[in-house]
Amino acid sequence: MPTTTTTTTTIQMANKWSPGRGRGQSGRGCICWISLTLLLMLVPDFIVALKDVSVMIPQAVKRGSNALFTCNYDMENDTLYSVKWYKGKREFYRYTPKENPAMKVFAMTSGLNVERNLSNQSHVVLQSVPLNISGKFTCEISVEAPTFQTAMVSGEMEVVELPEEHTVVTGIQARYRVGDLVDGNCSIKYSKPAANLTWTINGIVVPPHHIKTYQTERQENSTLESVTSAIHFMVTTQHFLKSQMRLKCTANIFDIFKEEMESVIEEDRPRIMASGRSYDMNNYPLEENPNGERGGYEDHNESYLTYYSGWQATVYIHIKTL
Ligand SMILES: *[C@@H]1O[C@H](CO)[C@@H](O)[C@H](O)[C@H]1NC(C)=O
Ligand SMILES: *[C@@H]1O[C@H](CO)[C@@H](O)[C@H](O)[C@H]1NC(C)=O
Ligand SMILES: *[C@@H]1O[C@H](CO)[C@@H](O)[C@H](O)[C@H]1NC(C)=O
Ligand SMILES: *[C@@H]1O[C@H](CO)[C@@H](O)[C@H](O)[C@H]1NC(C)=O
Ligand SMILES: *[C@@H]1O[C@H](CO)[C@@H](O)[C@H](O)[C@H]1NC(C)=O
Ligand SMILES: *[C@@H]1O[C@H](CO)[C@@H](O)[C@H](O)[C@H]1NC(C)=O
Ligand SMILES: *[C@@H]1O[C@H](CO)[C@@H](O)[C@H](O)[C@H]1NC(C)=O
Ligand SMILES: *[C@@H]1O[C@H](CO)[C@@H](O)[C@H](O)[C@H]1NC(C)=O
Repeated sequence: MPTTTTTTTTIQMANKWSPGRGRGQSGRGCICWISLTLLLMLVPDFIVALKDVSVMIPQAVKRGSNALFTCNYDMENDTLYSVKWYKGKREFYRYTPKENPAMKVFAMTSGLNVERNLSNQSHVVLQSVPLNISGKFTCEISVEAPTFQTAMVSGEMEVVELPEEHTVVTGIQARYRVGDLVDGNCSIKYSKPAANLTWTINGIVVPPHHIKTYQTERQENSTLESVTSAIHFMVTTQHFLKSQMRLKCTANIFDIFKEEMESVIEEDRPRIMASGRSYDMNNYPLEENPNGERGGYEDHNESYLTYYSGWQATVYIHIKTL
């Protein structure tokens, strides 16, 4: 079930009988509006209707799923005249209790498909949403005489195309020594919008100067995007907790998609060779380090034996169904 976000932006209240209406088109309009609001709050016998109008519009929904919008309002002693819903500036739904039928759905060729038997004066359900209906949705509440007040509240919804492929982590070795350079990539292909990629080491977010995000390339003839986040840092002793480093790349799309790729890296501790033992230096897996960077150990004159269980780190995938 998609999580909904309460959005209470731009509450506009207009009293149709207000003598102030039409005045104050200049910068004073705002002050007038505030004064009117204060007046409404301070004068007790002035009928205050339409308190606390708010909408709940999901920030993001998966393409093809249903989207539930809620418009909450406190009518106090007023009578509801109508509830209208707009996509952008176009009205697509109207609920007028005194009319028959009370519900009107305005056909639009935009892929907005109202599920009538789940919609009423407070709820609207859009069925099987296509990608192209992303944008601003507005609820407008109007009350009857004597106040004829109207309030509008909006929220943004983005329809998401989930990635076609799993997150891929490359370039991370199974073992590192202190002083080694870690050079890895985390990529995720073809979603809309592009996922956010975050790297953490033992749960701590890697600072931005160690990260480079490659411009999202668009798949030809499609709005889908892919993204790569490259990580580059030198291993220090602080990176190991009990000889392990947990390097994780997390791909997120709002709160509806989360995939974590965790590489569990072992600390490659230098082992001093027992003297007199022969040691074939050709076994030393230098070729596994294309940059030849084994920082910090070049000056030493001990011999080190390194065990490699495989070049790439084992990657554990955690996929969160949200
Ligand atoms: C609503 O009506 C009731 C009963 O008629 C009254 O007691 C109450 O004060 C009214 N509330 C407001 C906010 O006008
Ligand atoms: C949105 O996509 C649907 C089909 O998925 C199509 O019927 C509709 O015309 C499109 N609307 C716009 C505004 O492009
Ligand atoms: C809504 O109505 C349609 C027919 O108009 C019906 O097929 C569908 O099962 C109904 N859905 C619910 C949730 O009641
Ligand atoms: C409106 O419909 C929703 C389901 O979509 C339901 O939970 C709610 O109780 C209904 N409200 C009214 C006032 O009928
Ligand atoms: C990471 O990806 C970038 C861009 O695709 C590429 O240039 C770079 O060589 C990759 N690095 C590694 C370590 O795979
Ligand atoms: C996009 O797709 C259409 C047909 O699906 C094709 O005619 C057109 O050449 C494509 N454009 C590009 C830039 O690939
Ligand atoms: C990516 O992260 C930014 C900053 O936290 C956020 O504003 C944005 O909505 C996120 N985008 C997606 C697709 O999750
Ligand atoms: C190298 O070996 C010499 C003697 O064998 C020793 O005195 C010196 O401290 C060693 N250097 C390092 C960096 O361990």
